Amino acid sequence: MAKYDALYKRSIDDKEGFWAEAAEALHWDRKWDKVLDDSNAPYSRWFAGGMLNTCYNALDRHVENGRADQLALIHDSPLTESQQRFTYRELRDAVARFAGLLAKNGVAKGDRVIIYMPMVPEAAIAMLACARLGAIHSVVFGGFASNELATRINDAKPKAIVTASCGIEPGRVIAYKPLLDGAIDLADHKPSFCVILQRPQSPAPLTAGRDLDWQAAMEDVSPHPCVSVAATDPLYILYTSGTTGQPKGIVRDNGGHAVALHWSMKNIYDVEPGEVYWAASDVGWVVGHSYIVYAPLLNGNTTVMYEGKPVGTPDAGAFWRVIAEHKVTTLFTAPTAFRAIRQQDPEGKLLANYDLTHYRALFLAGERCDPDTLVWAQEKLKVPVIDHWWQTETGWSIAANPMGVEPLPVKPGSPTVAAPGWDIRVLDGDGHEVAPGTIGAIVCKLPLPPASLPTLWQAQDRFHEAYLAEYPGFYKTGDAGYIDEDGYIFVMARTDDIINVAGHRLSTGGMEEVLASHPDVAECAVIGVADSLKGQVPLGFVVLNAGCQRVDSEIQAELVKLVREKIGPVAAFKLVAVIKRLPKTRSGKILRRTMRQIADGESFKPPATIDDPAILDEIAAALSGLGYARR
Ligand code: COA
Ligand code: AMP
Repeated sequence: MAKYDALYKRSIDDKEGFWAEAAEALHWDRKWDKVLDDSNAPYSRWFAGGMLNTCYNALDRHVENGRADQLALIHDSPLTESQQRFTYRELRDAVARFAGLLAKNGVAKGDRVIIYMPMVPEAAIAMLACARLGAIHSVVFGGFASNELATRINDAKPKAIVTASCGIEPGRVIAYKPLLDGAIDLADHKPSFCVILQRPQSPAPLTAGRDLDWQAAMEDVSPHPCVSVAATDPLYILYTSGTTGQPKGIVRDNGGHAVALHWSMKNIYDVEPGEVYWAASDVGWVVGHSYIVYAPLLNGNTTVMYEGKPVGTPDAGAFWRVIAEHKVTTLFTAPTAFRAIRQQDPEGKLLANYDLTHYRALFLAGERCDPDTLVWAQEKLKVPVIDHWWQTETGWSIAANPMGVEPLPVKPGSPTVAAPGWDIRVLDGDGHEVAPGTIGAIVCKLPLPPASLPTLWQAQDRFHEAYLAEYPGFYKTGDAGYIDEDGYIFVMARTDDIINVAGHRLSTGGMEEVLASHPDVAECAVIGVADSLKGQVPLGFVVLNAGCQRVDSEIQAELVKLVREKIGPVAAFKLVAVIKRLPKTRSGKILRRTMRQIADGESFKPPATIDDPAILDEIAAALSGLGYARR
């Protein structure tokens, strides 16, 4: 570990020297005054005084330096049976023109633009066009319903919304326009205009005076040059689940983000400029922001944007087909995708149909990687399988196997070691560091490295409260786990009510708010229970109002529908049990952890303060009615 140890030590002892050196690889319009400005600790800013443009660094810089004719982006869509390719020059030109379209309609530096799109190249084009103008994009995942979109519209107050007429899921076309209209109706803030990309699968009628047709509007616009912004100016806001229905607006800056992401491509992923890199995620998630769009382009790679699933489009060989066809060297996805492939092709027989000789490594993140999945992927693919741990908040990995520095031995169940720049500690309930191997709250010593969130969008107090207040001097990750004698990190569980469903981060608190809004529901609780495909799925318990005479199954169906309508299909909320009372402590705290342990068939000891232990048998009976409680 000597090479990693030396690099890591420098990244902690000489932060400014370490990141200043990394920053030299990019183009700066004006060099920074201070690499790390922590004069306002615990808040800090990277590259204060520096000016740059992220889009320039991701596109124009490569066009001017010999990559104009190299492919920048390949769109591969088994769902529409189409492919599209853009060289760096073509992508730069499309982005510059779309930036021109936004500017012509009044979008300027600092304005927010919401992008609510399926996995089409135009989603990346819109993101990069905002970056070009210094406008702040906020991408909203297509699987969220109108209500979630409306919450984000109210918080970000966008001047424009960019969307498509439809998204395509296996077996169904999802019309986006009604979802957009519904969200704008619900929201107090109204955008000045919307741009709609018409897709042939289901074109949408446009709203006169508000909507522009993407293609028609692009016809008479001039390309817009890059606008220089401060390194500390926001590049984007990405909303992620907090502990309530109100999502947190994670802010990403321009300078630190570009530096850390560029640095990560070689040092974490071991990818050289010119190679083909594929993150099989969605632009609506942080993985999509960082590793479909920004990092591969900053590094001069060809990025693959895939509109399809790991299975069913058309089969469990879909990923191998994409790797072979586009000569992908490195694939990054969530373990759930591999569980889906393994369920359908346990022997990995479909691999034999494809030439994967150029394929080098699989990176997994987004949820805990179960050792079974890791070992299966290692055996079948015969390449290193690297689990790494990160969050929307951090923008890149907190813990990883630094493949481009020095590949370290893999320990199944561990995302390996602290990534350079991350000073990770495990603390007990009193804030004291624990001994190796002891579970506690995983925290990171401040200041955090570049690319991590400087704040929450217009919510500095919430930022402080959510991440910095509990352990002064540290960032609270919200994850629990331990560090072993070799410095390997094991991330075991969340310490809050966030659950991870097919690599998607969801708030059970948010789902509880929806269930509680049903007129027949008196009380409720939502927990995440183990699922062999998705890792976890949400399961709701409801207590009905006294005197409610309705049939349980009717109410259950309404609740499932309500969560789908209010949060979206991505919540995957399909299980709900009607019970007489919720298990609580004598002080009234709902025993969610005990309910989860019963559901997952784990041994448990109910807290001594439980109000009425007999109720746990009722919970077990309700759970086994739903196919859970495997004791
Ligand atoms: N727009 C609209 N609906 C969407 C959507 C989108 N962009 N993405 C998902 N949905 C819908 C799905 O169609 C599904 O609807 P259904 O309840 O009618 O079946 C629902 O949301 C749940 O989606 P998902 O949890 O993704 O489940 P799935 O059964 O469709 O697929 C996997 C399961 C494992 C194949 C899938 O989750 C996957 O490919 N995961 C890859 C990992 C990944 O992308 N991780 C992101 C972070 S790295
Ligand atoms: P998100 O913000 O959606 O990326 O989700 C971040 C959360 O997902 C983390 O706080 C962890 O709980 C979980 N997570 C992500 N990657 C890993 C990993 N490699 N191992 C364990 N948990 C992970």
